[in-house]
Amino acid sequence: MSATSPNDIAISIRNITQRFGEEGAPDSVLALDDVSLDIRKGEFVCLLGPSGCGKSTILNIVGGLFRPTSGTTLVEGRSVEGTPHTDQIAFVFQESTLFPWYTVIENFRIAMKFRGMAASEWDDRAMKALKAVGMASFARHYPDQLSVGMRQRVNMARGICVETPILLMDEPFAALDEQTRMVLGEDLSQLLAATGKTIVFVTHSLAEAVFLSDRIAVMTARPGKIKTIIDVNEAHPRSPDFMLEPRFSELRNQCYALLRDEIRATMAAQRDPAGVEA
Ligand SMILES: Nc1ncnc2c1ncn2[C@@H]1O[C@H](COP(=O)(O)OP(=O)(O)OP(=O)(O)O)[C@@H](O)[C@H]1O
Ligand SMILES: [Mg+2]
Repeated sequence: MSATSPNDIAISIRNITQRFGEEGAPDSVLALDDVSLDIRKGEFVCLLGPSGCGKSTILNIVGGLFRPTSGTTLVEGRSVEGTPHTDQIAFVFQESTLFPWYTVIENFRIAMKFRGMAASEWDDRAMKALKAVGMASFARHYPDQLSVGMRQRVNMARGICVETPILLMDEPFAALDEQTRMVLGEDLSQLLAATGKTIVFVTHSLAEAVFLSDRIAVMTARPGKIKTIIDVNEAHPRSPDFMLEPRFSELRNQCYALLRDEIRATMAAQRDPAGVEA
């Protein structure tokens, strides 16, 4: 990979350590241990690692939802000090966070109003984002009139409509069936190619990680560190044919080989918590 200038960096995570609870206290948890990662503008980076290794914690720190115990995070050169940069970052979570008593488009308007976007732009942006995920005809529906998969597409579109340069996605497709996940993955790759957004994405699916990522950051068991970074050299938008290439299976197997020991370490720690660094 060629040298990257500081202007090309969207997110710079520097020596982040996160401890929950007082050091030495029985419930104290060292979640992240000295994590550093630079994410380039327009890059799709996936965090892959065993349950509890700190993936969501990294997203929460980058998103300014809380301040780390030590270390710094810069978003487009600005320090994140536990304050969300709502003009730069949007979140998409696993569970749909739509207000059930508002229609889809009303939910989108609220998100845009909260971010101080001009009311004259709300509906155009909402419809553009809904079109990007094939949900334009459901703008006037209430969330409970949609299937789980449709709700999650709408949830993703809401993250898109606020038009931030960075999207943080925490297992956004985890509750969906495999086929819907694959289609949404294709939509996301299209979106990346069309908008040049920077996306940090958490998943437990190896295939999803390889299909979507420019780079995969494989993490260790808790306390989470970056174990290895895998480059996936494939232009966006990606087609399902990519999954048929031998290279796709090789990358997937490489991820699994790296993760296997970490998952076993996590399972061993769950069986014998006394042996875990806390
Ligand atoms: N607010 C909190 N207070 C105390 N401990 C926390 C808090 N948030 C996370 N943790 C702990 O920090 C560790 C990392 O949690 P995190 O949610 O980041 O893991 P994760 O990699 O996202 O896991 P999963 O794949 O299961 O979602 C876990 O041991 C978790 O119990
Ligand atoms: Mg998580």
